[in-house]
Amino acid sequence: PGAGQPRTFDLIVQAGRSAIVPAGETDTWGYNGTQLGPTLRVRRGEQVRVNVRNTLGEATSVHWHGMHVPATADGGPHQSIDPGATWSPVWTVDQPAATLWYHPHPHGQTEAHVYRGLSGMLIVDDDDEARLALPRTYGVDDIPVIVQDKTFDETGRLIDTTHVGTGMLGDTILVNGTAGAQFTATSDRVRMRLLNASTARSYAFGFADDREFDLIATDGGLLAAPLRTARITLTPGERAEIIVSLTGGEQVMFRSYPQDLGASGAGTGADDMFDVLRLDAAAGLRSSPPTPDRLTRLDRLPASAARTTRRFEINLDRINDEKMDMSRVDQVVTMNTTEIWEVANTTRTPHNFHVHGVRFQILTIDGQDPPAELAGWKDTVYTPPGIPLRLIMRFTGSTDPVTPYMYHCHMLWHEDIGMMGQFVIV
Ligand code: C2O
Ligand code: CU
Ligand code: CU
Repeated sequence: PGAGQPRTFDLIVQAGRSAIVPAGETDTWGYNGTQLGPTLRVRRGEQVRVNVRNTLGEATSVHWHGMHVPATADGGPHQSIDPGATWSPVWTVDQPAATLWYHPHPHGQTEAHVYRGLSGMLIVDDDDEARLALPRTYGVDDIPVIVQDKTFDETGRLIDTTHVGTGMLGDTILVNGTAGAQFTATSDRVRMRLLNASTARSYAFGFADDREFDLIATDGGLLAAPLRTARITLTPGERAEIIVSLTGGEQVMFRSYPQDLGASGAGTGADDMFDVLRLDAAAGLRSSPPTPDRLTRLDRLPASAARTTRRFEINLDRINDEKMDMSRVDQVVTMNTTEIWEVANTTRTPHNFHVHGVRFQILTIDGQDPPAELAGWKDTVYTPPGIPLRLIMRFTGSTDPVTPYMYHCHMLWHEDIGMMGQFVIV
């Protein structure tokens, strides 16, 4: 773009046909294609404009999950795009490098729209991240890994399944829209940008030989230092960036393992195990530098900075005993203040909690400091049954007394049936 011109992207929301499993084709929806969407890449400081044209036969919206945008650009249920209409939000990117995503958010229909194929990755770059010796050649040593579970019938048609505790659980794992996905690595370190874009399923990712990898970033950006681990759990909507080391000529399976969600396994998929992505390392690998010891400066927000504490009791189809109501504003937040949000899952079912328009830090989980993998910037966090969390966040940007942001469970069936609330920033 020329000086003063925003960087412009065009997204066409469209219906199409995809052959995802060998049995046959299915109807799907995508952005600029039949399934998923292009990875959008933006730089801190630049102005961005996205022209979203809806060619579907029904209204949809596009939400920039994790992006700090004005409420009118957020793409939640209030920014509905009618069939045939174009919506063109503009904003200035003012947050650090991170792996974000975009997906539909139509009132009561988010699960259906995401399940049919609408999701894409949204990457923020900045100078600080660019100075680090990290793999960053897109599609070569820096790869998007969008993980979803779906169910197909014997003709290859995408089908809905019964809603169980967390929602619809699929029996087929897709990576970037592909079943049985495989990636050929040509370098000895690969950065994987993991996105759980499933409607209900959580994953405990790791490698078949239990090798350790470096966790370098979570939802809102880089961790202070890489964390050496063999597992990373992502509930719906969460992201993580990992760097895995490979040896020339080897093959290793990236999988999802059974996990402890702090709930009985029934209806949660917690006991399931799946192959996710096979990594085939080429015989001669290009060597890349080791992961730096320090990644970014991460200042903890002190609890003493908060002047307001709010409580959220989350339930299957409601928060604080109210179902989502588009015409009711639940919370009024003051601009440029810091708040503590106490979130308690009072059910026996797994839920998580996502807040629009802001990044947060986890102060405590059940009164304890968060584990290292949850000590960075987050926008979505798992809320185990019976365990209270305290989140701290600072609200910045532009005020808007009429257009609300959302907070909700990212298990999309729960969101759709009412487990969502609205806040404005004034
Ligand atoms: Cu990704 Cu309101 O959500
Ligand atoms: Cu969001
Ligand atoms: Cu939920």
